[in-house]
Amino acid sequence: MYSRPDGIVIAIDGPSGAGKSTIARLLAERLGYIQIDTGAMYRAAALLLSREGIDLADLAAVEHFCRNLDIRLEVVSGRQVVRANGIDVTDQIRTPEMSLLTSRTSALKPVREALLKSQQQMGSRGGVVLEGRDIGTVVFPEAEIKFYLNASVEERARRRFEELTCKGEPVTLAETIAEVVMRDRQDSERDIAPLRQADDAIPIDSSRLSVDEVLTRMITMCRKKIESMDILR
Ligand code: DC
Repeated sequence: MYSRPDGIVIAIDGPSGAGKSTIARLLAERLGYIQIDTGAMYRAAALLLSREGIDLADLAAVEHFCRNLDIRLEVVSGRQVVRANGIDVTDQIRTPEMSLLTSRTSALKPVREALLKSQQQMGSRGGVVLEGRDIGTVVFPEAEIKFYLNASVEERARRRFEELTCKGEPVTLAETIAEVVMRDRQDSERDIAPLRQADDAIPIDSSRLSVDEVLTRMITMCRKKIESMDILR
């Protein structure tokens, strides 16, 4: 009998702008699962570190700060809310500056250790869709199904540019391409838990696929997996 009471663990990894958040949200909705956006957790940690003025080179100070770090993902009136040490930081964590800062702070060992533990706890009952960079390789290497969602740099930057301009952020496409390239490099070249496709992950390139097409492929595979196991959800 399957040991997680609420369902299977679904891991979605991939670089920024590949469409993970949209897909993870829709997949979770369709399966009645909980979405865990681990990138939002790293962003919230980065925001607090910068607000507290902590020197990122001082690992002892970062470690001390991380001991009392409390990051929660909540759903309030159908909207995902990110709370860091009690403060709602949902909107402040989505700027281009925060993206680059998070890419740096998420390379720090104390930050990763603190968030790894809470992510494993949040997903332990199953019935979750976790998205990030290291879900299938580090957080839940035993996840029942793993996807690696990718797209070309140009397409990922174009999507990100649209998202930012819609929000009124004053950015150019060239700046957005540079941001995506820089984050790719930082996320995949770091020593701890770098962005990498797990050996048993199913790769999906979303460059030429619509959200619906990606979702249909993934949901079919997830349902098959759930049906093949001795569980109810
Ligand atoms: O998915 P995102 O763009 O919101 O993630 C923000 C940053 O957090 C990204 O540059 C890499 C980092 N991150 C990570 O290191 N590990 C994760 N599991 C999720 C995100």
